[in-house]
Amino acid sequence: MSDLTPLTDREIDDSRRSLLGLGSAKAALAAVGAIAASAALPIGAAAEAQSLHSSDTDILNFALNLEYLETEYYLRAVVGTTGDEAFRTNLGGAVRGGRKVAFANPVHDGLFRNITANEYKHVNFLRSINGSASIQRPVIDFDAGFAGVAQAAGLPDFDPFANEMNFFLGAMLFEDVGVTAYKGSARNIRNKQILESAAGILASEGYHMGAVRSVIYKMGDDWRRRAVNISEMRDRLDGPQDLDQPPVQIGDRSNVVPANQNGIAFGRTPQHVLNIVYGNPAQGIVAGGFFPEGFNGRIRST
Ligand SMILES: [Fe+2]
Ligand SMILES: [Fe+2]
Repeated sequence: MSDLTPLTDREIDDSRRSLLGLGSAKAALAAVGAIAASAALPIGAAAEAQSLHSSDTDILNFALNLEYLETEYYLRAVVGTTGDEAFRTNLGGAVRGGRKVAFANPVHDGLFRNITANEYKHVNFLRSINGSASIQRPVIDFDAGFAGVAQAAGLPDFDPFANEMNFFLGAMLFEDVGVTAYKGSARNIRNKQILESAAGILASEGYHMGAVRSVIYKMGDDWRRRAVNISEMRDRLDGPQDLDQPPVQIGDRSNVVPANQNGIAFGRTPQHVLNIVYGNPAQGIVAGGFFPEGFNGRIRST
């Protein structure tokens, strides 16, 4: 499935050379590509082989629930396939809803294909690290989840798969949650190699979020207004603190990056992340919203 294969160094360099009017560097880079490909496998194998502290396994499984959610969201809408088809195996729980989105803008389509490939690889990577301790995909319900968002955010008939703008807003909902989840869990990761990988995934989610929020911001008031609704909905769900920030204009400045006074992105506890994806601000909740049977793994209660 070429859509999900990360671009190789050679493809990226060829594209760069083509923009600069240079010839293809295929031959010169073939050796580099081969080295990169051969290096890719041992890294994953090494991660799997190391013994993980059980609490690190729990954190990675917590993140894996969110990665399954993101992966199914993008695969269905951008590629028109499912996680089971992409991985050529039954990943676990059923997934309800989601369908191919007709992207009018090829730049947006290309952006989401990039993100989709990353999400697919995040699932693959976390499953490989956790090995046999890896959770299966939880039951995911996009229909119920987004119906709840529509009601809670005051966006009647909000359907992220209906058009490009709605799909960006749905992506913002998930990407912002992903960034804050990795940030909020970082302090509890004990193994430094795992922490480094998690930092890399956090960066990847930050790029996703920045790209998505930039487009929403650039598209003007109609898109921004709906992003405010989503942001305020998250803020009502995730505890009393006012953490969430929409990509709006403040004075002569955009607020694409939700950061504190030190320029540091904020994080959420796992419980507050669960409040959002379960669509419920209460404590002790174990299911709801996008996850009708709750998260899989040990971190699953608000
Ligand atoms: Fe991801
Ligand atoms: Fe992402």
